[in-house]
Amino acid sequence: MTDVAARLEELRERGLYRRLRLIEGPQGPRVTLSGREVLLLCSNDYLGLAADRRVREAAAEAALRWGAGAGASRLISGTMQPHRELEAALAAFKGYDRALLFGSGYLANTGTIAALAGPGEVVFSDELNHASIIDGCRLSRAETLVYRHNDVDHLESLLRSAPGTPALIVTDGIFSMDGDVAPLPELLELAHRYGARLMVDEAHATGALGPGGRGSVSAAGLSGEVDIVMGTMGKSLGSYGAYVCANEETVDFLVNRARPFVFSTAPAPPIVGAALAALSILEAEPERVDRLMANALVLREGLAAEGFRMGDSTTQIVPIEIGEAEPTMALCERALERGVFAQGIRPPTVPEGSSRLRFTVMATHDPEDLRRAAREVGAAAREIGLLKAPTLAG
Ligand SMILES: Cc1ncc(COP(=O)(O)O)c(C=O)c1O
Repeated sequence: MTDVAARLEELRERGLYRRLRLIEGPQGPRVTLSGREVLLLCSNDYLGLAADRRVREAAAEAALRWGAGAGASRLISGTMQPHRELEAALAAFKGYDRALLFGSGYLANTGTIAALAGPGEVVFSDELNHASIIDGCRLSRAETLVYRHNDVDHLESLLRSAPGTPALIVTDGIFSMDGDVAPLPELLELAHRYGARLMVDEAHATGALGPGGRGSVSAAGLSGEVDIVMGTMGKSLGSYGAYVCANEETVDFLVNRARPFVFSTAPAPPIVGAALAALSILEAEPERVDRLMANALVLREGLAAEGFRMGDSTTQIVPIEIGEAEPTMALCERALERGVFAQGIRPPTVPEGSSRLRFTVMATHDPEDLRRAAREVGAAAREIGLLKAPTLAG
């Protein structure tokens, strides 16, 4: 047996082996999976824009006008008109001087954190931050101190005894696997007091929170005050890629020092054109954001009525924690048999012992379908004896 085969075997034994499932057709509230129509409850296309005709047409028009690819990194010959336009639109939407595009959210986080912190400095990171933030901390070679989830007292104790210059406090705005929201005013206050920058990842909050879906920073009234706001185009904006908003000077620095910006080909015109169209739809149709939040409430209430607990979720990301990986995947399969597709999430995406079914709601879901989905998942959980477990009883 090769070492890779042995490692795969170990993943299977631990219930952590993953495989790809093929979705036929575009993202939408319902999709065809292995020839069967199911309700899709694990897409981050929250506003239903990935398949919106106007967004598709904008991608096609950008491809025809500007080409399929950007040809080079932005600093070589890759900066094109659509990049400029989208950056200006995103900066205005978020209330910042400037925005800078990256190839993906993963690249935006790793590149920005590694540029803004270094040896001799300290980064403070919430324990439930996304993997791209964790990897950015690693790449920075700064000391990383991980504070307990949303625990500002713990963060302050770490800031007080920091073994170096506090450089950055970094947090998800909406936590990607838990659906709860970071205490941004308190984090900003600590950042000011200890001379660190605050960086907020709005991957899931853009299009969901704040006036017109401007995000968690805007919802907290802190646009322009939080130093760095990162967001993605792959979720509510229905496309692909990401951006970082900050002041003039910080963006100028990232242009020079963020390695995924310097050393990677610029985002392709079709995805940029699509994101621009999606952003203007979001601005013109803010009721999509209201529908998303109303739908999220319908699902949370439905799952609560079945006896599930959903942690501190107040958003469109709704987890039901099961614990171990195997029963989580068993529930995922049973729910699928009943026509509900919500992905089981296991380590290393979440901490050991906190595997969960993670639902993500879309503005385009029919509320009646969401109520039915909650009932089906409740029935599936009872079938395999999961709802009787004390940790799940509501
Ligand atoms: C909180 C968070 N940040 C960053 C990312 C990475 O973004 P992207 O998918 O654009 O790489 C994700 C998910 O993909 C995420 O959930």
